[in-house]
Amino acid sequence: MDPVVLVGACIILASILILFATGLKKRSRNLPPGSYGWPVVGESLEFLRRNQEGKPEKFVTDRMSKYKSEVFKTSLMGEPVVVLSGPAGNKFLYSNENKLVNTWWPISVQKLLGTCLSTSVGDEAKQMRKLMAYFVSPDAMEKLYIKTMDFVTQQHIQHHWQGKEEMKVSPAVKLYTFELACRFFMSVEDPEHIKKLSSLFNVFLRGVISLPVNIPGTKFYRAMRATAVIREELLRIVRHRREALMKNNNNNNNRHDLLSHLLVTPDENGSFMSELHIVNNIILLLFAGHDTSTVTITLLIKKLGDLPHVYEKVLQVHREIAATKEGGEFLHWDDIQKMKYSWNVVCEVMRQYSPVIGAFREALVDINYKGYHIPKGWKIYWNTPITHMNASFFPKPMEFDPSRFEGDGAVPYTFVPFGGGPRMCLGKEFARLQILTFLHNVVKRFRWSLVVPEERLEYDPLPIPVQGLPIRLHPHKL
Ligand code: HEM
Ligand SMILES: *[C@@H]1O[C@H](CO)[C@@H](O)[C@H](O)[C@H]1NC(C)=O
Ligand SMILES: *[C@@H]1O[C@H](CO)[C@@H](O)[C@H](O)[C@H]1NC(C)=O
Repeated sequence: MDPVVLVGACIILASILILFATGLKKRSRNLPPGSYGWPVVGESLEFLRRNQEGKPEKFVTDRMSKYKSEVFKTSLMGEPVVVLSGPAGNKFLYSNENKLVNTWWPISVQKLLGTCLSTSVGDEAKQMRKLMAYFVSPDAMEKLYIKTMDFVTQQHIQHHWQGKEEMKVSPAVKLYTFELACRFFMSVEDPEHIKKLSSLFNVFLRGVISLPVNIPGTKFYRAMRATAVIREELLRIVRHRREALMKNNNNNNNRHDLLSHLLVTPDENGSFMSELHIVNNIILLLFAGHDTSTVTITLLIKKLGDLPHVYEKVLQVHREIAATKEGGEFLHWDDIQKMKYSWNVVCEVMRQYSPVIGAFREALVDINYKGYHIPKGWKIYWNTPITHMNASFFPKPMEFDPSRFEGDGAVPYTFVPFGGGPRMCLGKEFARLQILTFLHNVVKRFRWSLVVPEERLEYDPLPIPVQGLPIRLHPHKL
């Protein structure tokens, strides 16, 4: 036979074999059902539209019923994404961190934050988390700063609430959580300084979840520039503090903020976090703890304005606590533990309006989940409202009922406003203390009524009343 023909035949035969083999491989790799939507944007536009409509779970529930599956694939922000929904999916992701999955944030977040806890994985992340965890632990709160929290809260209410007949809740609370964060993380207390940082930070927030296109005119570009200024400013604060600590060696515990804590606490091998990583982590905490607490407090005020019988019960709790205090005495750790009913109300607010509607992971290896193949490198999304609003776990989910959280509370992995596992919200206890301290001080002083009773909510991506929640304040007559 002509050698050319022979070679040709061999090539054709080999190609057929390869095609056959890949075909087989494809067929055995049973990807979850679903559609990638449009090129590049995928299904992102519908995902965002549902948020704007105030129905973040609809994107997921529509597809669950269309594909008759709790697992489906889609494409968001240019990435193939598998969505897992329900307690089994949550459990799977929370318990497989560093084994099958790692936490993953959109590229825009990664680029803006740089190296920090949220953009790190494995041992590096564990170490960073350990260094920061003490500062936001109940022990530190009790010993270091619950009184200051109460004091700062009272000052805020004096300056921004007292004496007003009508006000907008959302911008006031936003300022409050930012003031607290600046104070507790790095002892910045000067109102002008806080104002400057806050306006830079708002530019950061507008660009943090956006297309990461760094050319003039985009939100992302403006966010990158603002973050560079914030970073420089914080680096200056860090260096200044380091010098002060060195000069004042035996007295270095007099500033109980996160910054001093990170500067003086070595890791297990005796080395310290670099200045840049300290700054990036502080930016992360401002980011993670600012809007989340703000919307929770804002929606809490909305619900209490809506539901007088809940307000009255909350008021009773806080009046009892206030009655045990001498004039000018601050809240103690024990008082916070007595606010059980109030915390159940907060939990019910977070159930109905998830401050964080979901988060991503990345598959570290090829994963087999419920018979479906999830390829290595794909992103996986879990979602809070899908279990929070499921009548199997929360009967009559549209009804506001804080007593759901009494007794044993929710079925495991169904109530997940803070996530779970090794990547669970680091600031959960800090948020609890802050929200309850605020509630205590505001309920003690006022009743309020909503100026726009049916004010619409939009998720952007956090739920926010579109007009900023205007209320009328009615101080208690003493
Ligand atoms: C009501 C308020 C808050 C809610 C609902 C909330 C919720 C969450 C959620 C859902 C996550 C993601 C978990 C995951 O990816 O699985 C998270 C992560 C995080 N949160 Fe919060 N958060 C709140 C307040 C705060 C505060 C006040 C701080 C800081 C003091 C904070 C710091 C963090 C940090 C640092 C992470 C990343 C942890 C890691 O990657 O290891 N959060 N939070
Ligand atoms: C500490 O040193 C050990 C041994 O060299 C290393 O395995 C570990 O990763 C180090 N820890 C940190 C936080 O760098
Ligand atoms: C609600 O939970 C039940 C029980 O796990 C499940 O069968 C159902 O599909 C869930 N519905 C939605 C919309 O998630």
